[in-house]
Amino acid sequence: MTSSPRVYSRIVGTGSALPERLVDNATLAAELGARGVETSDDWIVARTGIRQRYIASPEESSSVLGTRAARMAIETAGLAPGDIDLIIVATSTPDFVFPSTACLVQRALGIVGGAAFDVQAVCSGFVYGLTVADAMIRTGSARHALVIGAETFSRILDWNDRGTCVLFGDGAGAVVLSASDRPGILAAKLHADGRHEAILRTAGNVSHGSITGHPFLTMDGQAVFKLAVGVLDEVARETVAAAGLTVADIDWLVPHQANVRILQATGRRLGLPAEKVIVTVDRHANTSAASVPLALDVAMRDGRIREGHRVMLQGVGGGFTWGAVLVQI
Ligand code: ACO
Repeated sequence: MTSSPRVYSRIVGTGSALPERLVDNATLAAELGARGVETSDDWIVARTGIRQRYIASPEESSSVLGTRAARMAIETAGLAPGDIDLIIVATSTPDFVFPSTACLVQRALGIVGGAAFDVQAVCSGFVYGLTVADAMIRTGSARHALVIGAETFSRILDWNDRGTCVLFGDGAGAVVLSASDRPGILAAKLHADGRHEAILRTAGNVSHGSITGHPFLTMDGQAVFKLAVGVLDEVARETVAAAGLTVADIDWLVPHQANVRILQATGRRLGLPAEKVIVTVDRHANTSAASVPLALDVAMRDGRIREGHRVMLQGVGGGFTWGAVLVQI
């Protein structure tokens, strides 16, 4: 009796989408200043490395941005929408309470059948979604999966809170993950610690026809900073070890893009030179679940990340959640 060949999953296409409206720090500072909220380009750049962000119009919902990114990823993969049999959208800013943003993307792409669902792990959502898709492909439940991170965080920002509203932007990134006889995803590790749920949250909902709780994002910035820096190098080491490799085998680190100081600290703790860390937070700000696939798409398209490279994707965020996926492109 011959055993069936082992199935792996590989990233075969990437895509991204940004809203039309670009808002640089100077423009944002002027707009906030007009409502009595003081900030400056100097403060934002020095504390976060962010120089600009994209802000969605009312029409540019998470599903609209996610669909644009998905189309690009499917085209890059050389596939047709009809080939996709699994759609996972990572988002904390869905279009609706339900149906899922994944079902809205599915409809917009003209796909019928196959599974479609959302994953909610805030800024770790994309690595969570990728890990689930990898497992479903390896067990034969899907052959071509779309994994999308799509966010419109501008909709949940309190523009009177300068400690948070300068940090986030809107956008989407997507990958197509396909079954293959060659390894692509080498290892994945996911974690959560709900004891820290209160340091970063939007603790509101709709109930009996009204908004309940607090509909804006709140954050204890220093607590988030400390936790993020503590877990990111740890999970990177855990993931390379699970793949039987070491940190020296990583060609590129694509971390969640929250704050350039967190990215630099993670690179330093891992002993990776700054040139190996992909940074897009200066251009996109923090786009939560979209930030990792957006950064991956940028670095694939500008030719830095190439076939054969080993890439460490990392998420960290509300929940508190964190995780990493090591991928061979
Ligand atoms: N403009 C000007 N001044 C500001 C602003 C602003 N936008 N925001 C805060 N300040 C002021 C504060 O009021 C405070 O003033 P005070 O000293 O007079 O009270 C001063 O700046 C320092 O405030 P801190 O909150 O202590 O500033 P800190 O150095 O911690 O930087 C920051 C804040 C950038 C949020 C930092 O804590 C951080 O990066 N945390 C990580 C959190 C993060 O990136 N979250 C993103 C989401 S989480 C995730 O994606 C993982």
